[in-house]
Order: sequence, then C-alpha cells, then structure tokens
Amino acid sequence: MSSLLFTPLQLRGVTLPNRIAVSPMCQYSSEDGFANDWHFVHLGSRAVGGAGLVIFEASGVEAEGRISPQDLGIYKDEHVAPLARIVKFIHEHGSVAGIQLAHAGRKASKSPPWEGDTTVAPTAGGWTPVAPSALPFDDQSTVPTALDEAGIQRVIRAFAEATDRAKAAGFRVVEIHGAHGYLLHEFLSPLSNQRTDQYGGSFENRVRLIREVTRTVRQRWPADLPLFVRLSATDWVDGGWTLEDSVALSRLLKEDGADLIDCSSGAIVPGVKIPAGPGYQVPLSARVREQAGVATGAVGFIQSAFQAESILRTGQADIVLLARELLRDPYWPLHAAKELHVQAQWPKQYERARS
Ligand SMILES: Cc1cc2nc3c(=O)[nH]c(=O)nc-3n(C[C@H](O)[C@H](O)[C@H](O)COP(=O)(O)O)c2cc1C
Repeated sequence: MSSLLFTPLQLRGVTLPNRIAVSPMCQYSSEDGFANDWHFVHLGSRAVGGAGLVIFEASGVEAEGRISPQDLGIYKDEHVAPLARIVKFIHEHGSVAGIQLAHAGRKASKSPPWEGDTTVAPTAGGWTPVAPSALPFDDQSTVPTALDEAGIQRVIRAFAEATDRAKAAGFRVVEIHGAHGYLLHEFLSPLSNQRTDQYGGSFENRVRLIREVTRTVRQRWPADLPLFVRLSATDWVDGGWTLEDSVALSRLLKEDGADLIDCSSGAIVPGVKIPAGPGYQVPLSARVREQAGVATGAVGFIQSAFQAESILRTGQADIVLLARELLRDPYWPLHAAKELHVQAQWPKQYERARS
C-alpha cells in the first residue's frame, strides 16, 4: 500500500518529510513570553515522535496580543534565543519547525483554562484588550478599546518585527493566526467589526487588515520559506463570516503570497452550535482547496491513520494538522506509519522498540 500521508511535500524551498503537522497549541506556561524547558520537551517530543511539521503555539506579536499573560511571545529580541534552541533540536530530528504569529484582540488578557479562562484585570497583571470595535466577546469580558489608524499600523509593524525574529530563530514556516475570534478574525467578521472607516463595512474593507499583514509578513519572510494563514473558514452563525467569504479571501491571500490556508472554524462569538465531530472541518478545507486553488490544511477531530490518509487521497487537503491526538500520543506518526505499512524513520535511540 502506498501512503500519501508519508509522502514528502515541498512548499517553496522547504520539504516536509511527511504531511502530519502538530497544530499550534497554547501551553500557558511562559513568563513574559519566554519559551522554557516545558516548550523544549513538549515540542521536541513531537518532533521525535515523527511529525513532519511542528507549529509552535499562538505567539503574541505584542505583549497585549497574548491570550493569557502566560502565552509564548515573540515581541522582544530576547525571545529569539530560547526559541532558537528548540527550533535547532526539531530540525536535528528531521522535522520542520513553524511558528504561529498571533494577536488575540478582544480575547486577550485571560487566565489559563485550568484557572477558569476568566478575565485578568490590569491590577492583576492583565491589560485592556484592543479590537476593531468596542464590543466585548461576552458579558464577562472587558470592553476592548477600538484600534485607531495608528494602532492598526502598530499591529502591522508588530507582525513585521515578529517575522524578523521568527527568521532569526531559524523557523522554516510562519503561520499567521487569522482564526478563532482573535484580532484578525475580528476584523473579518461583521459580528465583531462595526467600523465605518476603510477597515470595516464591505468585504474589501474587512479583509484589508489580514491582507496588509499577509503582504507585510511575506515581504519580510524569505522567498524560499512557506507562509501559512489559519482562518476560521466559517463562523457557523447567520450574519457572520461564511465559507464563501473564506474562498474569496483565500484567493486574495494566495495573491498576497500565502502558500497554504489552514482551515479551522468558529469562536468569534459565544454560544454557537457547531457540528463538531470526526473530520467536521474537512469539507471547509476541501472547498477552499478546490475553489481558491490553494494548498490547504485540514484540522479538527482527525484521529486515525486511515482517516488522515483518506483526507489527503480524496484531495480534501495537502496536510493534516492534529492537536489533541498528538497530546495523547506524541508518537502518533510512528504508529500511523505502522498502520499504513510505511517504513518511517525512527529515532536511532528508539530503534530497538520498533517491531
Ligand atoms: C491545548 C490547546 C491549545 C490550543 N491552542 C491553539 C493555538 O495556539 N492556536 C490555534 O490556532 N489553535 C489552537 N488550538 C486549536 C488546535 O490547534 C486545533 O485546531 C483544535 O484543537 C482541533 O484539532 P484537534 O481535534 O486535533 O484537537 C488549541 C487546542 C488545544 C487543545
């Protein structure tokens, strides 16, 4: 049996050894944005476990762009060295390191999930979040400050400088976080964007910021390295961002220099009924891939080797991203190879366990 999951994929000058990516996952384990031994072991283990691409968690491009005060950050030059140490290890183990550049917008300044995901007040080390409009995410959230033109330019500059730091740290893939109700998605969705200037109103205006960020990052990011954008491909709500919008935006982002659209969904407003279940976001990826003519990633409840292989074989995505399954089992790729009868490269230190 041949396997597409274990067929290398070339994106610009980077070859992913297989098509399994570690989906970005916040660890809420940093102090002042710094990567530490937790990140080294957590991310390093997934490279040892055989994932072809390891994407570091949503990393704040500015301190106020972190979801929690414990998020990873890439807003200071000092953040580069500890990131570079992990990147080097991942590359030494044959995997490719990527980083998700993020700004949390109105969903910033929250406590980690295990502390209730509640608002952290400025007096407790938090801050007042920024957003396209002064609309809070829910009743419990702080009313954000609407960004003015200078604030928008500052955010774009922060993405640019974060890109330079990602390059300095040795990353080979950068992903712009345009999903899950964070800042860039907040500009896209009419549910969170009620601006009347050139960044709000029409589709062209609402996509302006993510396009400016994408073009800016693309200019700074070396031409031989791929750029991903993660979108919430639908808000799953009437009056919200739609799959048709995502197809139209993906065409534009491809022109702006994005190489792959990572198709997630939801999280712009609370209380939405989402049809979550095995592979439920795969059709979103399939539509974007087919109609926008761009490479895509499928993510969400992808758990078995055969499921992952079949998503790729049926042309619904170019890579699969796994999150929770890779937390349960960092060696998922090695097990998947066995199920698909592929001779995967095991770490030489572990070869005696291979049967
Ligand atoms: C602990 C945890 C942290 C997450 N953090 C991020 C993140 O930093 N950026 C992001 O885009 N998605 C984040 N997600 C969403 C995942 O990347 C993924 O899209 C989602 O969990 C669905 O995939 P799964 O069913 O394989 O878990 C996170 C998910 C988990 C479980």
